[in-house]
Amino acid sequence: MTVGSESSAAVATGDEVIRVLIVDDIASTRENLQKLLAFEDDIAVVATAGNGREGIDAARELSPHVVLMDVNMPVMDGIEATETLAIEAPQCPVVIMSVQGERDYLRRAMQSGARAFLIKPFSGDELLTSIRRVHQVEGRKGTYLRRLAAAGEDSVALSGGIAVAARGRGAEIHLVMAGKGGCGKSLLATNLATALRLEGAGRVCLVDLDLQFGDVGVLLNLAHGRTISDLVESAQGLDAEFVDEVLADGPEGLRVLLAPLSPELGDLVRAEHVRAIFEILSQEFDHIVVDSGGPFAEPTLESIELADDILVIGPLNIPAIKNTKLLLKTLESLRVPSERVLLVVNHHDAHAAYDRATLAENLRAEVATELPSDPKVVGASVQRAVPVVVGSPDAEITRRVRALARRLAPQAVAAAGGDGRRPAPSRRFGFRR
Ligand SMILES: Nc1ncnc2c1ncn2[C@@H]1O[C@H](COP(=O)(O)OP(=O)(O)OP(=O)(O)O)[C@@H](O)[C@H]1O
Ligand SMILES: [Mg+2]
Repeated sequence: MTVGSESSAAVATGDEVIRVLIVDDIASTRENLQKLLAFEDDIAVVATAGNGREGIDAARELSPHVVLMDVNMPVMDGIEATETLAIEAPQCPVVIMSVQGERDYLRRAMQSGARAFLIKPFSGDELLTSIRRVHQVEGRKGTYLRRLAAAGEDSVALSGGIAVAARGRGAEIHLVMAGKGGCGKSLLATNLATALRLEGAGRVCLVDLDLQFGDVGVLLNLAHGRTISDLVESAQGLDAEFVDEVLADGPEGLRVLLAPLSPELGDLVRAEHVRAIFEILSQEFDHIVVDSGGPFAEPTLESIELADDILVIGPLNIPAIKNTKLLLKTLESLRVPSERVLLVVNHHDAHAAYDRATLAENLRAEVATELPSDPKVVGASVQRAVPVVVGSPDAEITRRVRALARRLAPQAVAAAGGDGRRPAPSRRFGFRR
């Protein structure tokens, strides 16, 4: 690790200056980046590192505001270093710099916990915009977390649901979260939402809040040009009819709010948009299921406050458990009542290292259900773009998810006489019976 020059290190202690750590194995790249950033008054490079391991050490020691991270490096690559930082130093947001621009690759980078990515070669403007934006969002996140925690203190605990006192009855909001990417959030969210419909739980809306890489539209094969971006553009004049037009028609009468068509549009969705959209959806639906993006993304944080229950999904391997633990701790520090948090163990990872009892003890949270690993059934579902609960009605995953849906909508199921066949009431919001 090379610590920045005395003058830049001194400047870096100032309030207005964004302290940057550069991690790249190519010395000339580090130098070029340093030179470029040296022209900016509001940015100071506090150190440089030549591999992921050194980068982690430097981040721990110096707590930079932003880490610029290369991917292919000796000793420890940038993806692993980003994953480690997400757990050990979550206050240091990472911007990945990569030569590979394919969607799947970027997705993996973002799943590791990175906040943004730059595709090499990038311009000076792109670099500066990215650093400043990540820093700004991080600041907002801090303010937001403090506000949430303070709200929790005032009211003993976050009560969940939109303006519970004012709304009387509205939709039940079920938020699906995970401590780490690729844990099965979208599998659970799409199937749970569809299962709620199958169980006669009334009007159900699935919201894809994985704003950068949401794939609900792909998973359900929804060729629909309208997304949450349309709602953000007309945030001022948002009304139920317009929201209805933007929603796509999913399986079994499910309505779906799709994620933006490209990752950068996701950045435009602010907490206040999320709140306004949920306010409207809440009046028009009985249940809202939310597939979330990163656990600390602004829209996810907003949803935590609004949700009636939070389903935390994860497999049983050690890195996922570490992340799940961190997520549960964060929810606890936000004073989300523990009875609102339900754990869903997803066995899709063959290298499971924990059993259920050890897990429950370790995480001190209720395991609501466990989804078995079923690559054949899940693979067929993804390929045909038909939810498991529809395409494989007898699969164990279907049984588990439907039981979970009944638990989340007990009144609806009781009203249907327990057979889940209650016809949904006809209301203004279009949905198929
Ligand atoms: N129980 C399971 N059995 C078989 N395959 C599974 C199971 N759960 C998840 N998968 C597979 O694992 C992958 C990740 O699942 P999914 O996309 O639902 O995760 P995610 O948490 O939404 O990921 P991301 O963070 O990318 O949004 C998918 O290919 C999915 O089909
Ligand atoms: Mg997903």
